[in-house]
Amino acid sequence: MAVFCFIAGCFGYVLTSLVVFLVIAFLCYCLYIKYIHLKYDHIPGPPRDSFIFGHFPTFSRERSNGRIIHDKFLEWSETFGPVYRLNGLHVVTLFVTCPDTTKEVLMSPKYPKDTLVYKHLFNLFGQRFMGNGLVTARDHDLWYRQRRIMDPAFSSLYLQSLMGTFNERADMLMDKLGEMADTNTATSMLHMFNCVTLDVITKVAFGVDLDLLNDSDTPFPKAIEKCLKGSVHHTSDKTFQLNPKNWKFISEVKDAAKLLRITGRQWINKRKMAVQNGEDVPKDILTQILKTAGSEEKMGKDDEELMLDNFVTFFIAGQETTANQLAFAVMELGRLPEILAKIKQEVDDVLGMKREISFDHLGKMTYLSQVLKETLRLYPTAPGTSRSIPKNIVIDGIHIPAGTTCFFNSYVCGRMDKFFEDPLKFDPERFHPDAAKPYYCYYPFALGPRSCLGQNFAKMEAKVVMAKLLQRFDFSLLPGQSFDILDTGTLRPKSGVMCNIRHRGPTPTGT
Ligand code: HEM
Repeated sequence: MAVFCFIAGCFGYVLTSLVVFLVIAFLCYCLYIKYIHLKYDHIPGPPRDSFIFGHFPTFSRERSNGRIIHDKFLEWSETFGPVYRLNGLHVVTLFVTCPDTTKEVLMSPKYPKDTLVYKHLFNLFGQRFMGNGLVTARDHDLWYRQRRIMDPAFSSLYLQSLMGTFNERADMLMDKLGEMADTNTATSMLHMFNCVTLDVITKVAFGVDLDLLNDSDTPFPKAIEKCLKGSVHHTSDKTFQLNPKNWKFISEVKDAAKLLRITGRQWINKRKMAVQNGEDVPKDILTQILKTAGSEEKMGKDDEELMLDNFVTFFIAGQETTANQLAFAVMELGRLPEILAKIKQEVDDVLGMKREISFDHLGKMTYLSQVLKETLRLYPTAPGTSRSIPKNIVIDGIHIPAGTTCFFNSYVCGRMDKFFEDPLKFDPERFHPDAAKPYYCYYPFALGPRSCLGQNFAKMEAKVVMAKLLQRFDFSLLPGQSFDILDTGTLRPKSGVMCNIRHRGPTPTGT
């Protein structure tokens, strides 16, 4: 009995000590949060929903009500000015729309990508994802080495040599749309563009033929979509993994990320074999990815992982963004007959009955460029970027302490009337060659050293696909296909942009 009492006493003592310790730890944490509030509360911002969770409850509320979180950021930017603060636990993030600060921070290598977002893309729920690849590398030297190695695969000369592939894949899409037109089948343009952009990136970047338009069984499009959805939850909701309701989804996301990496390993090994056997391999992105790993003899586990990081990076960065842009462009053109007529006229003038689009043709279709730019103003399909601020700075007269994360959101800037008159109006004339250039408030491809490596690739690809579509088909939106955006971090038209397609005339054949 005495032994029992002794053990029970010890247990009670340990339990009480533990509770006291937890209470003290919690109070210390609350004090730390209070300290953070005192340090940052001079920066304007919306009232916090809760002392501990800050503005998190608003985020959850907006999401569960099906609203686009970027619209909330826009509303707050308009209310609180060029820099405002958001809190969540002990973390403070700043949202910046001040053009001078955007210029200073994004154009300089002094401000690294922040941990808050990019650490959460290193892995997805424990499964390595984009790792230290080009988009997510935060260490300047590691990033710079990769970027220099990748540059040749994006040089103007090399991109011009890709015109054949852009044409060939776009023609396959046109053939498919032709079949839809013949059978009067309504078409999800988003789905079609997803297939073609994935076909292009796998062919151009990795030398692999997928032919997704005719083989819908390949798991890649779903895997990419799953990873993108997963990455939004992983970066924005710290409690997501704790809820058993989400465990099935999390396991699917991890499987999807694993599938991409396993495929990457297979394709990389195949290319390595080809190189070792002295075969003639293209100077494509995959060849450059192999170079990031150094020589075969010195290649270690880290090098292997880095190659896979970049494989996943190009799959993710180089596909959905362009597909969504094209789908949004069709959505807007479907609503605006005058702009549609003008752009068709330009395509007819430049291409006539020519089937093969050349690099020179692309330069002549300036109104098409304007339409694509305007599409990315209203629908920036990668809506922003973020940086760490390592030293104290001043934004619009407000002192910003070192160690803060700043978000730069191109969706918000693109929709502010202080930057763009009548901002919700789709008006390609804003990007007329003679119009004033927006001053650090339009950056769909980001800006400065960490701007999109694939932007010229994306612009060429989008123009070829769009020009062929306009040359060959008339399209009309099915009802209910308008401004229905799904907010998954990247912006995507939820409705899929369903269209009826009709032939415009005989199939172009000339060269
Ligand atoms: C409309 C299409 C596209 C848009 C709107 C877009 C937008 C962006 C944005 C905003 C960033 C910066 C991301 C960040 O800071 O977190 C970025 C980076 C990047 N993008 Fe794109 N992108 C597009 C297409 C592509 C394509 C087609 C490729 C490849 C073929 C590509 C490859 C990359 C890479 C490698 C980076 C990282 C650059 C670096 O940090 O050095 N993107 N893109």
